[in-house]
Amino acid sequence: MKILIVNGPNLNMLGAREKQIYGEQTLDEMNKEIAAFCNDNGMETAFYQSNIEGEIVSAIHGVRSVYGADAIVINAGAYTHYSHAIGDALACVKVPKAEVHISNVHARENFRHLSVLADNCNGVICGFGADSYKLACLAMKNILIKQAEK
Ligand code: DQA
Repeated sequence: MKILIVNGPNLNMLGAREKQIYGEQTLDEMNKEIAAFCNDNGMETAFYQSNIEGEIVSAIHGVRSVYGADAIVINAGAYTHYSHAIGDALACVKVPKAEVHISNVHARENFRHLSVLADNCNGVICGFGADSYKLACLAMKNILIKQAEK
């Protein structure tokens, strides 16, 4: 069981950007923590980050063919709030999907309260830092197990 973890724009700047919101960890450090957690919980991981909308669309399309993954956990950054292209890409791929955010977007500016991705995901987890990704991976695992039992 393999999970593709997709990070969008500005998440490559973790550790440097707005530390009071996003913490001290770099993306690489966070990814290592998530990979270790997933490994301990019987999941493989693949990680992808891009600042470019179309590249994120293509990574989503390749979830199976390129990454050989069974589910997607995506933090699309600000694209979450307005990228219908990424929303449509999520609708294209028939794997379980979770939208995640490091910060609690509902406690922040109004424009962050809207997600145009959420209706094409199984669920949304936000506000728990790196744990948002870990919780989402566990949720993906549970969905995949239930699907395999059918
Ligand atoms: C974010 C929240 C978004 O509103 C913001 O644009 C980001 C990061 C988060 O993880 O908290 O870039 O997705």
